[in-house]
Amino acid sequence: MLRSHTCGELNISNKGLEVTLTGWVQKSRDLGGMTFIDLRDRYGITQLVFNMETDAGLCGKARKLGREFVIKVTGKVAERSNKNPKMPTGDIEIIAESFDILNESKTPPFTIEDKTDGGDELRMKYRYLDLRRNPVKENLALRHKISIETRKYLDGEQFFEIETPFLIKSTPEGARDFVVPSRMHSGQFYALPQSPQTFKQLLMVAGYDRYFQLVRCFRDEDLRADRQPEFTQIDCEMSFVTQEDILNTFENLAKHLFKTVKGIDIEEFPRISYDDAMRLYGSDKPDIRFGMEFVELNDLAKEKGFAVFDNAELVVGINAPGCGNYSRKQLDKLTDFVRKPQIGAQGLVYVKFNEDGTFKSSVDKFFDQEALKTWAEKFDAKPGDLILILAGATDKTRKALNELRLEMGNRLELRSKDIFKPLWVVDFPLLEWDEDSERWHAMHHPFTSPKPDDMGYMETDPGKVRANAYDMVINGVEIGGGSIRIHNKDLQKRMFTLLGFSDEEAQEQFGFLMNAFEYGAPPHGGIALGFDRLVALFGGSDSIRDYIAFPKNNAGRDVMIDSPSGISQEQLDELKLKIVE
Ligand code: AMO
Repeated sequence: MLRSHTCGELNISNKGLEVTLTGWVQKSRDLGGMTFIDLRDRYGITQLVFNMETDAGLCGKARKLGREFVIKVTGKVAERSNKNPKMPTGDIEIIAESFDILNESKTPPFTIEDKTDGGDELRMKYRYLDLRRNPVKENLALRHKISIETRKYLDGEQFFEIETPFLIKSTPEGARDFVVPSRMHSGQFYALPQSPQTFKQLLMVAGYDRYFQLVRCFRDEDLRADRQPEFTQIDCEMSFVTQEDILNTFENLAKHLFKTVKGIDIEEFPRISYDDAMRLYGSDKPDIRFGMEFVELNDLAKEKGFAVFDNAELVVGINAPGCGNYSRKQLDKLTDFVRKPQIGAQGLVYVKFNEDGTFKSSVDKFFDQEALKTWAEKFDAKPGDLILILAGATDKTRKALNELRLEMGNRLELRSKDIFKPLWVVDFPLLEWDEDSERWHAMHHPFTSPKPDDMGYMETDPGKVRANAYDMVINGVEIGGGSIRIHNKDLQKRMFTLLGFSDEEAQEQFGFLMNAFEYGAPPHGGIALGFDRLVALFGGSDSIRDYIAFPKNNAGRDVMIDSPSGISQEQLDELKLKIVE
């Protein structure tokens, strides 16, 4: 190598050593007779010193070095008089004896330091410069560490890493596909996989009974902080297993990662049914870092003359501990919060449990102290607490109260990024009714097996059928999901019929899988964890973009390479494609 050491490893024990370093000029300071340069590489920063008195020529040359110039410098390690305890190399500096400029640099468009002055778009355009910054580098180091530990764990559990194709076939389920036109077969298209779902099932038919892949998936859907059009899954499948085996295997993967990457022992990994999650938290991805579970009040609050409650399908609330002293203004703010269109509640009822044991509520006209006391008991509220209640249609009200619960969790600082509370949500419904298309959709995907006990309802009461499907949720984030699969052709056919496929459509799109089921398909199941989400969670961020080397922006564009972009007429002709404006 051109260097003898990196910029992150020299310390006082190397005093007097002749070394050669390579790196980028982070900044330079002229202090009269001395010039100091911070030299940076992937490993850290080392201070270089050029002395006017001992070598005026070299020092003069060094003064001309611009930010981000790439240099190779040789010199001696010396003890610093002015030590910097914040830097691993802060006790030493290099008394430079010679240097070469390996490459010059234009002045970068933003400062390449921990706190930069560059806006989002600018940093995305010059992502290779942003990647030089320490916080971004640490995020990628974390990603690397988690991928290595994932591979170690799964290898130890006899999983085979097998690659599956990226040019596959478009299917109508799930999100929209990204499609790729075929030149050799004009008018025909490949699709990029939304996940390797059918391939991993075929690998089970092939007998590779434990498969995994850290695999890129592609989905043409609206972007959010936790969604990118291309993202990575830890995709896994196992044969001859029950749901219990899968939950245990991946619970242990999560525990292994928390232990090896963050040094955290995860003690509990509770399980909760989908129905209970909706009833207690109004969400299928509950954040259980804090309690504040929902309490339903229909029995105590309805038919007492308050029309809002009387007309509601569900009256339900939470108890916010210690918030009984909220002012009128604070309560108005909460009311405004639940009335926001994206939350959609009509209003908010509150009950303050005063320190003296009395109650003050926004429904005092309809409920006396005695009635409010029975509510407080049901909420297990204490003097000083604040009960917040919503009423309306069940699903909508639960959804709104979920938002309010999370908001109160934030206000009370109960959602620390340093605490990790994983859980499994199990027993998802097999299907959900889609109002727009007026048909049943698979809640997970069409390959998910119904629970054997519920199979009888598939044709008579489809909404009642539960699936052998599960999600891994950590701190309110859906980290992963999976299911026990259908491995029988007839059941798979029944499922497609339920989803509104004709026999021909099912055969045309998924015939390869159903045919494979006729050649000794073993019982199997699996899961996929969102790798980017997992890394972001470990890193303490809500945005997965910060943990992807070259992400897309919120509009799905790569502004660095300017993609998507048009293609030449020649390419269009070759593909027999015509752009219609
Ligand atoms: P699912 O669609 O639930 O399951 O995806 C699994 C996990 O992938 C992550 N994820 C995403 N991450 C970033 N950006 C996106 N656009 C995005 N979409 C999904 C989530 C999610 O939980 N084949 C099945 C798995 C199986 O049944 O084994 C599947 O893909 O963390």
